[in-house]
Parts: sequence; C-alpha cells; structure tokens
Amino acid sequence: MVGQKWVRLVTAQTPTNIAVIKYWGKRDETLILPVNDSISVTLDPNHLCTTTTVAVSPAFDRDRMWLNGKEISLVGGRYQNCLREIRKRATDVEDKEKGIKIAKNDWENLHVHIASHNNFPTAAGLASSAAGFACLVFALAKLMNVREDEGKLSSIARQGSGSACRSLYGGFVKWIMGNNEDGSDSLAVQLADEKHWDDLVILIAVVSSRQKETSSTSGMRESVETSLLLKHRAQEIVPKRVVQMEEAIKNKDFPSFASLTCADSNQFHAICLDTSPPIFYMNDTSHKIISIVEKWNRAEGTPQVAYTFDAGPNAVLIAHDRKAASELLKRLLFYFPPGAGTDLNSYVIGDKSILQDAGVH
Ligand code: DP6
Repeated sequence: MVGQKWVRLVTAQTPTNIAVIKYWGKRDETLILPVNDSISVTLDPNHLCTTTTVAVSPAFDRDRMWLNGKEISLVGGRYQNCLREIRKRATDVEDKEKGIKIAKNDWENLHVHIASHNNFPTAAGLASSAAGFACLVFALAKLMNVREDEGKLSSIARQGSGSACRSLYGGFVKWIMGNNEDGSDSLAVQLADEKHWDDLVILIAVVSSRQKETSSTSGMRESVETSLLLKHRAQEIVPKRVVQMEEAIKNKDFPSFASLTCADSNQFHAICLDTSPPIFYMNDTSHKIISIVEKWNRAEGTPQVAYTFDAGPNAVLIAHDRKAASELLKRLLFYFPPGAGTDLNSYVIGDKSILQDAGVH
C-alpha cells in the first residue's frame, strides 16, 4: 500500500454551541473532566461553524494541520490526544471506485493532513474550539471508519476542548460530568433535537472580534485555584440549576429558560471576578446590552430575550420568537446606531430576514 499514489479525503462541517449552563473549571486537566454538568444549545449549522477536511495518503510523511490557512503545530497536547484516540479505533476502509484499500493495522503507519476553517473570529469568545475539535473528531472518525456512537465520539472531542463534546449533537445538549477517573462516563447527550423548540431565535452581537486576553483554559485553571465561589457553584448551585433547565427546555418554558440562562451567565462572570487576579471578559458595551435586555424584560412583565456571555465581550441573545428578535434588533440599533463610533460591530444571526424586519438592509 505505501508508495502508491492516492489520497482519501473527508470533509465535515460542525456548528458551534453556546452554553446556557456554563462549564467553568476542570477536576482533571489532562483528560478534561469538568467540575460540573453543563447544558448548551447548538447553533444553526449554516452559521458560526467549522469546516474541516482531513486527508490520508501514503505520500504524507507526518501529521500536519492548517487552521484558517496557517499551519499550526500538532506537537503534544490536545490534537494528539484526539488523533491517538481515533487512530486506536480505526477499522478497515475500502473505496472500490478509487481502488483504495486500507487495513486496520495500516493506520498506525499512515499520516493525515488536516485543513480547518472557521467562518467566524477564532478565540474571540465565540466558542471556536468547540466547533473545531468536534468537527476534527467527526471528520477523522469518518476517514478512519470508526464505528463508535456519538456519545463515545463526544468523549474523544472532550479531550480536545471540553465544550467541543456538546457540538456533536444539534438542539439542546447536556455534558454529563461523570464520576469515573478515566473519564469514560464524561460525555454529551442530546436533551432535545433542533426541531423541539424552533421558535427561538439566536442573535450574536459581536462587540469585539479581537482574540481574548485570557484563554478559557487558563482562566478556568486560575478560577479553580483561587475562587471559593466556584466550589459553591459547582457543588450547590449547578446540580439544581441543571434539573430546572432540563425541565424548562422540555416544557418550552421561556420565562424559566431565560432567567436561568441570564443568572448562570452572570454567575460565571462573578466567578471570573472572584478569581485572583480577577478576569474581565465583559466590557462596558456588554454591560450596556445586559441592562437594555433587563429593562425591557422587566417592562414587558415576562422575559422576551435571554442573554449569555462566554469568555469574551460578545453577547449571545436568545429571543423568545421572531417578533421579539426583530424588536430586540431595533432596540440594539437605537442604542448602538451603525457608524456612530460605538463598540458594537456587527450582528450575526441565523435568519437574515429578521434584519429586514428591523429595517437593516
Ligand atoms: C465559557 O471548552 O474553551 O465557553 O476545555 O479548556 O478547551 P477547554 O475550555 P473551553 O471552555 C468553554 C468555557 C465557556 C463555557 C461553556 O462553553 O460551557
């Protein structure tokens, strides 16, 4: 087989996910095991996604990877962990059309080339690593004909980046923290598919697309080492909140969903402040967005929109329905008019016609 001239290619596309109950803190840094369960919603596959092509050929002399066109090092760490776990499970591949036959045992001597592209800013608090590692694991599993279910693949993606395990499914997803020391039961499960609650509209207000100063990985390490609030959250708050959130999702109960989502985002940022030295992911624009949403929700008597912020200043806004999304956009445009020198750069939304409803062309 080696010496023959062939290339086998697989391309996959994976959307990012946004946590509504946050993962923040690891109990095991190497295996990436969290201190609490988390719940997320996976975005529309047409937006904010990673596209990854993986290739294998006897002509390749080492594993290589390009991220957004730039070669990155694969030495050590998380990429190697994912590659090793997938290679271990590789099986026979036969492509009669192209005359390619790879036996199970050949995989350990074959190298892969990986080209990955995000259609959104990398490392700007828009969960780029989540889509990236989920897509990588999925594409490699297809390339090497790995016969494992999504749960197992999610636990491999987890070893690339914790939040990645939740991007293997659409809809609402829970990452179960698990109890086993080897991490075998720390995996993602789907709570409800993408059709279950499809009235929700997700908008992202891109406050800044600059790369964040403190990565999630180092930020959460510092929080685990220094924040007392983190321990209280993981042990006392999240277990109850996860049950309430599952119930809210099951019943499509927007008021409960919104208040849990906002409270959990605020608590995560409170932990960042409680970390020594403190970490500031949100900025003045983020705070202004929170107060616009809070005031509006209060004035309406029942929440119209939920907000949540990850490790960056960008706001993820989840509107109850299309009408609320269009009204939200109008309000944001009133407070942050385009071209007025404010910090709010752009909106990325699932359905562009909502922009037209709000008078943006
Ligand atoms: C704030 O998954 O990026 O987005 O596991 O170290 O790669 P590592 O961290 P990462 O952390 C994401 C943190 C978060 C919350 C969340 O997505 O649950």
